[in-house]
Amino acid sequence: MTAPLTIAELKKLAQRRVPKMFFQYADSGSWTESTYQANEADFKKIKLRQRVLVDMSDRSLATTMVGQKAAMPVALAPTGLTGMQHADGEMLAARAAEEFGIPFTLSTMSICSIEDIASVTKQPFWFQLYVMKDRDFVLNLIQRAKAAKCSALVLTADLQILGQRHNDIRNGLSAPPKFTAKNLWQMATRPGWCMGMLKTKRRSFGNIIGHAKDISDMTTLSHWTHSQFDTKLSWSDVDWIKERWGGPLIIKGILDVEDAKAAVATGADAIIVSNHGGRQLDGAPSSISMLPYIVDAVGDKIEVHVDGGIRSGQDVLKAVALGAKGTFIGRPFLYGLGAMGKEGVTLALEIIRKELDISMALCGKRDIKTVDREIIAEL
Ligand SMILES: Cc1cc2nc3c(=O)[nH]c(=O)nc-3n(C[C@H](O)[C@H](O)[C@H](O)COP(=O)(O)O)c2cc1C
Repeated sequence: MTAPLTIAELKKLAQRRVPKMFFQYADSGSWTESTYQANEADFKKIKLRQRVLVDMSDRSLATTMVGQKAAMPVALAPTGLTGMQHADGEMLAARAAEEFGIPFTLSTMSICSIEDIASVTKQPFWFQLYVMKDRDFVLNLIQRAKAAKCSALVLTADLQILGQRHNDIRNGLSAPPKFTAKNLWQMATRPGWCMGMLKTKRRSFGNIIGHAKDISDMTTLSHWTHSQFDTKLSWSDVDWIKERWGGPLIIKGILDVEDAKAAVATGADAIIVSNHGGRQLDGAPSSISMLPYIVDAVGDKIEVHVDGGIRSGQDVLKAVALGAKGTFIGRPFLYGLGAMGKEGVTLALEIIRKELDISMALCGKRDIKTVDREIIAEL
């Protein structure tokens, strides 16, 4: 079999190698999945201007995101339970990102802990924060991220309550998996995945177990998560977080111009235009369709990033052309990880880099920093 050439091919391979409940955890949106689908579909509607007979030698994709160097304008998005797509998944993805020269963002709800990632990387990584009612626990997470020398904090603003994904309910999703007959069958048909999981001790929420009060096992954890996500979180809490963190702050989950302006007022360094990959408010517009409005409103005051639906380097190019300084990918790297472990994450990044580089050249540009709306064809 030839190596996968596209993110779609990596996805097919991941489906064959990852037990159904975890594959579907990644490949799902909330309710009707209309926003999940729109994220991808709206990229396809954007057409590029083909330009010819311009010098396209010596091209560069290098850029910065919140002042930090990135080999291309792409970061790995924070994704929960990544260590269930593949054993030690967060550690493998972080190392692939480091070798590639792009930022890796660790989710609060990861399987490998902040300390695990620090132990296998030399470059600083980014940490994504969910705010819990237990502020001592939140403060402790921030301090652990600082101790691990994380170089940006990504505050997720769009998940105070959880959007419903039907597959997760049907599959009885949990980490570690519950050993029902159905789940055991799903796992038995994925022997490579099982071998990996047997060899690692990391099968539960590494940032939480042993750190949050009274949490020693998973039964109490699921109850704790539902009761602990802070539904009262508001703009006024951002100051509290910003002060305690003291470093670059990125607010994730902005989809509305008014919220973008409110984010600017907090003094944050960047925002991520995002609908959580279509996993929260089903019926919300795609991220890429909102990006130009948000860039026009606040692009001169704050760095604007975007995620949701990026499945190729061409999608990255389109996002940059519409004003994103950086992009984040979630599922593309998860598919790579599930398909082929660390190598698969690297392959996903290589696929995206190649597509981005060739597309940029064919639009007549040599430096990603000069890409702007001029490369977009009128519809
Ligand atoms: C399986 C999965 C788990 C996720 N977990 C988190 C999380 O823990 N924290 C967070 O801020 N966003 C989370 N997200 C959202 C991603 O950070 C990102 O916004 C989204 O994946 C981008 O869309 P894409 O998957 O189409 O690239 C998750 C997304 C997926 C697919």
